[in-house]
Amino acid sequence: MTTAIIGTGGIGSVIARQLASGGEALRLASADTESARMLAAQIGRAAVVATDNRDAVQGAGAVVLALRFTVLKGVIDQIAGLLTGKLVVVPSNPLTTDAHGNVSRVLPEGQSSGTVVAGWLPAGARLAMAFGTMSAGLFESSANRSPEPAVLFYVTNDDRAGEEVERLIRTAGFEPVKAGRIEQSGRLEVGGDLHDLVVGPAQARSLTSAA
Ligand SMILES: NC(=O)c1ccc[n+]([C@@H]2O[C@H](COP(=O)([O-])OP(=O)(O)OC[C@H]3O[C@@H](n4cnc5c(N)ncnc54)[C@H](OP(=O)(O)O)[C@@H]3O)[C@@H](O)[C@H]2O)c1
Repeated sequence: MTTAIIGTGGIGSVIARQLASGGEALRLASADTESARMLAAQIGRAAVVATDNRDAVQGAGAVVLALRFTVLKGVIDQIAGLLTGKLVVVPSNPLTTDAHGNVSRVLPEGQSSGTVVAGWLPAGARLAMAFGTMSAGLFESSANRSPEPAVLFYVTNDDRAGEEVERLIRTAGFEPVKAGRIEQSGRLEVGGDLHDLVVGPAQARSLTSAA
């Protein structure tokens, strides 16, 4: 199966390496293609560099938008016509950093980033918020944990998106656990109760049993 990854920075590069090591074919795109090219060279034959964001999505069944929240809408607008029938995975936290390094939320407190992203997508795109629940280093070091796999939480309102994102999560070396609906994406974000949590399936299910 082929997945497009748009954004090959801190988290996109780790997601790409983990998916490729699980056997997924990748189409990579970044703002100036340089970081995508370097990552593709590192990964080898499983990854190709797309000429632009639209080219990345063409030929892929799923797309991971590993982008800062502030550029997400612009990229979605560029590729919207190509998203019908595709799984769209968003790991973004709704945060921004100012010139002094101060981090703040770009959405009002309590507003679900998942709901906002869902509103930007065209009808027919299937959204799952996932792959942003751990910092990049923790994500990489927790993949393929043995004997008990570590869990990656996700949220979605779409059963088929759930099946598809679960396949990607397993491909990346984790056990998927649904944490609720898109409206509950705040649980996965920086500051959410499930963020940066490395747990096995039993503990994960007890944390999400009410979802
Ligand atoms: N880093 C983490 O540990 C981590 C963990 C969990 C979640 N997240 C979330 O994931 C999101 C991305 O974080 P990050 O740390 O990966 O950011 P980052 O290192 O700044 O990477 C952002 C990527 O987006 C690309 N990009 C920017 N504008 C683009 C455009 N118009 N078209 C295509 N690509 C574009 C950049 O391209 P260039 O490479 O060419 O500049 C870069 O590859 C954030 O919302 C963050 O909160 C991050």
